[in-house]
Amino acid sequence: METVRDVTALRARIRAWRGNGERVALVPTMGALHPGHMSLVAMARRKAHRVIASIFVNPAQFGAGEDLDRYPRREMADAAMLRAAGCSLLFAPPVEVVYPPGFSTKVSVTGLDEPLEGAARPGHFDGVATVVSKLLLMAFPDVAVFGEKDWQQLAIIRRMVTDLDIPVEIVGAPTLREPDGLAMSSRNAYLNTGERTIAAALPRTLRAAAIALRDGARVAETLATARASLQSAGFRLDYLTLADERSLKPLDRVERHARLFVAARLGTTRLIDNWPVDMPA
Ligand code: PAF
Repeated sequence: METVRDVTALRARIRAWRGNGERVALVPTMGALHPGHMSLVAMARRKAHRVIASIFVNPAQFGAGEDLDRYPRREMADAAMLRAAGCSLLFAPPVEVVYPPGFSTKVSVTGLDEPLEGAARPGHFDGVATVVSKLLLMAFPDVAVFGEKDWQQLAIIRRMVTDLDIPVEIVGAPTLREPDGLAMSSRNAYLNTGERTIAAALPRTLRAAAIALRDGARVAETLATARASLQSAGFRLDYLTLADERSLKPLDRVERHARLFVAARLGTTRLIDNWPVDMPA
């Protein structure tokens, strides 16, 4: 598996594949890869003949005081994992290739970017939408795969691709979880041993709340119980809410497409997760 760092080389490889009638998938990442990312690659391989992974720690989606500097960077190990997973190409551009001097464009997906992560991390989704639109326009893949763990990001990318008529199929891949249920995330590496043990309470609490809601419990009380339980486990909550998974608007009663969304801090690590509330048939 080759690594390319500029758009000319990237497009030359893609042109050659297309000349052979091959479909191309893109898996955008920020590196620090784990099995969750490999499940995105596996999904991409089911959809296309060739899979390109990108690794770019996008400064535009980190706010002041966020973890841009300490975000793990380990391209060699990442490349080895991608090669083993059957990736055809790694695109790992330096910052000046993505944001050359004078760069002054911003892509904003309004509305969907306001609740949940948008409220806690102003400007974050402008950074995501801008870099994802650039990556899609650089590679013009047939398919691009994103994880459902970042549900709001996926919803925003779908909206952006529709609104801008970008000719790519966006595929959401189910969240991969550790045996104790914790959603796989590059940020899990920041947790110390004690925090890592506590972290399993996050999916456990979501699951219990989802079951209670499905079985008819009231939304306000269920959320209050879940919040109290996470706080007593040691989390500091940014939000724990029930929302429509398409509009992301908060719900005060359970409907089809209801989903729980949480962001919570353990020590200096911020974890997010989401869980569907399956309505009884
Ligand atoms: O989910 C991520 O890793 C990033 O937000 C993405 C989509 C690669 C954009 O930088």
